Amino acid sequence: MRSSQSLESQDRLSEGESLRLTIEKLVYGGYGLAHHRDKVIMVRFGAPQELVDAQILEDRKDYAEALVKRVVIPSRFRREEPCPYYGVCGGCQLQHMDYDAQVRSKESILLETLERLGRIKEPKLLDSLRSGDEFGYRIRVQFKVKNGKLGFFRWDEKEVVDIDSCPVAHPRINELIGPLKEYARNIKELQEIHVTYSPYEDRFLVKFITPIEIDRDFLNSLREEFLPKEVVGVGDYSRLRGFMNRRFWIGTEYLYMKVGKWTYRVGADSFFQVNWTLWEDFIEAVVRDVEFKKALDLHCGVGFFTIPLSERGNFIEGSDSNGFAINDAQYNAKLNHRDNVVFVKSDAFRHLKSRGGEVLDLVVLDPPRSGLEKNEIELLVKNKPERIIYISCNPSTLARDLRQLLRGGYTLEGIRLVDMFPQTYHIESISYLRVQE
Ligand SMILES: C[S@@+](CC[C@H](N)C(=O)[O-])C[C@H]1O[C@@H](n2cnc3c(N)ncnc32)[C@H](O)[C@@H]1O
Repeated sequence: MRSSQSLESQDRLSEGESLRLTIEKLVYGGYGLAHHRDKVIMVRFGAPQELVDAQILEDRKDYAEALVKRVVIPSRFRREEPCPYYGVCGGCQLQHMDYDAQVRSKESILLETLERLGRIKEPKLLDSLRSGDEFGYRIRVQFKVKNGKLGFFRWDEKEVVDIDSCPVAHPRINELIGPLKEYARNIKELQEIHVTYSPYEDRFLVKFITPIEIDRDFLNSLREEFLPKEVVGVGDYSRLRGFMNRRFWIGTEYLYMKVGKWTYRVGADSFFQVNWTLWEDFIEAVVRDVEFKKALDLHCGVGFFTIPLSERGNFIEGSDSNGFAINDAQYNAKLNHRDNVVFVKSDAFRHLKSRGGEVLDLVVLDPPRSGLEKNEIELLVKNKPERIIYISCNPSTLARDLRQLLRGGYTLEGIRLVDMFPQTYHIESISYLRVQE
């Protein structure tokens, strides 16, 4: 009999090995799921129900990763990818599938994640909110810069892929790539360039991220020489352990965004939803059917949902841990003539705690990818607001948090996919919860 060790070594796959695989379905991360003997293979750039020849990239303990080298029998969802950098650039994972198949796959992944990690039986899927346009939707883009190249990390993150355009970026951001490249040639050690665009104003803000400070006058002269007048503000930043630190700013540091009848001031260091083609529908999907006397919006940003929500009830308080966003939110309340909304700088837990046992009709949550803190969930369950609307950009942490909320006495009335990031694996959603009778 073979020992378990020799069994293991016989089953190991070697890097570069080629396998013929059937892709069963799409899974989170944008991978096609396949099996070789009993081993799970996660296949980059595979589409559901197709036969491919794939090359093993890495064999890990529980699964191996592979890359499609040749499509033998294509999936009926496969299409010619529109971007010339697709398959090399790491920004998109799903361009090889038609848009309808992308949305359907994300719906399945969302439901499966809630069932598997959240132990939620047959969650009710509401109509998905599709992107108004599957291309040209991004108003914020973070370019990487390395060895004279400007673009995005290759899919293995080892190199920067030099690009001249990006189909998911707003067309006006694409027009800026040429001037930014000229500009970048003049700054040593430039690491990243972050661009935000306002379709309402036709204006840009641009951040330059370097390990060493750029001379202020030099930055300004480069800006005048290379960048169009629509770039109304530029900033010099460093990035330390993921955190962005501003050294200085030149010009205006705000853009204004218009969403239906609402206008938002958005500072250079505040968050704003990235897909401009579904802003209005996104707000509508959150505020529809909402009524309240007292509500909290615990990750409010510049008031994207808080301000429209204020029309639906007596009083709403928004809070966010980012002081810049709160300054914008306070400004936005006045700008939109809302006098039943108050904004405070606070992390979500502290804000909820400060409300003690106050009766709340509604709490809106929109945390970062890491989801809710354990103590936030404990307080929510203790305070028991009548309704919770949980907006999430990470199905795994959402499933974990929903499990706790359902155990704590809530019912999930429904969940809606919001396809905020077409062509990529990212999954945004809205969960609607109500306290059990
Ligand atoms: C995905 S954004 C959503 C913002 C806003 N709801 C919107 O739609 O524009 C998440 C927000 O949560 C804030 N945030 C992160 N951690 C937080 C915490 N522990 N407490 C409160 N806010 C937090 C961030 O500053 C950011 O503005």
